[in-house]
Amino acid sequence: MRSTTTPLYDLSQADDAAVIVEENLNLAVEIDHGLSADLKFISSKFLYDDTGSSIFRKIMQMKEYYPTACEFEILSLQSAQIIDSLNFGRPFNIVEFGAGDGIKTRQLLKKLLETGIDFTYVPIDISEQALADLQENMIEALPELKMKPLAGDYFSMFHAISDAATPNLFLFLGSNIGNYPAEAASELLSSFYAAMSSGDKLLIGFDLQKNPKVIRNAYDDPHGITKAFNLNLLTRINRELQANFQVSQFDFYCHYDPISGEVKSYLVSLVAQKVWIQALGKEFSFQQNELIWTELSQKYTFEQINSLAKENGFIVNHNFLDCRHYFTDSLWEK
Ligand code: TRP
Repeated sequence: MRSTTTPLYDLSQADDAAVIVEENLNLAVEIDHGLSADLKFISSKFLYDDTGSSIFRKIMQMKEYYPTACEFEILSLQSAQIIDSLNFGRPFNIVEFGAGDGIKTRQLLKKLLETGIDFTYVPIDISEQALADLQENMIEALPELKMKPLAGDYFSMFHAISDAATPNLFLFLGSNIGNYPAEAASELLSSFYAAMSSGDKLLIGFDLQKNPKVIRNAYDDPHGITKAFNLNLLTRINRELQANFQVSQFDFYCHYDPISGEVKSYLVSLVAQKVWIQALGKEFSFQQNELIWTELSQKYTFEQINSLAKENGFIVNHNFLDCRHYFTDSLWEK
């Protein structure tokens, strides 16, 4: 047993740090940074450990969480039009970032296979478990699909796919882009652009601004699933960084501002409390009602979508919309 006074990750000791699994080091560094800030935050990318990914699948099945159903509708009913607009004229890759369970994407892949078009599906996801489940489901549903899954984060995967000879359709579906603050969203899009060759396409999901109550209900769900999803962050930190968060002493809160289009999600400390994180060898104090910001979910106008595309060098080919006009899959070209 490690003594309670020796942190597992002494971040000031480069030699010790070098032996730490890189993923946990990232978590340690970022949690230290976020919980030491004046306005505490935990990056939403840590929501998706294996448990988190499986809770997120439950979120996607809730009727209040409309984005999944909207995009399912778009990809089910309009895949022929999407395929028509690709116009690659030779075999291509479909590279999906943050593939998740792939149920929506399957609608598009199925149509492509029926059309007899030659392509390879390259799903990229940070969760190995999510990727393994995805592969199993895809093979079962579409046995003839050519598939090359890649586990890792987006940026480290760019080199693995930059084969200029084969055109690419990049998929960045769901409301993934909305989880990046404006500047980071623009940076991500410009790194997509840099990884793409001229003629490559990007199909990217944007959740649109709409009746604010519809948005609020999607994020403040009555079943407590979104709450469990957020609290799982603390369980994960307890497990991976040997911390002693008392999860029941935290609540979930979220807020939609229809003027800015931002949904912000938080954990709330219900009491004044101290939490020890063994891996950092540090104690963190929380005041009663102190917030930990966990997620931004930006909702967009078409003007914002067009200027994001333009700013980063893309041409907007087409906006594919669901029947309620809640959501768009926007097809961009380099
Ligand atoms: N990131 C996704 C989104 O913005 C998933 C999500 C839904 C989420 N509700 C959340 C993430 C609450 C954090 C907090 O739609």
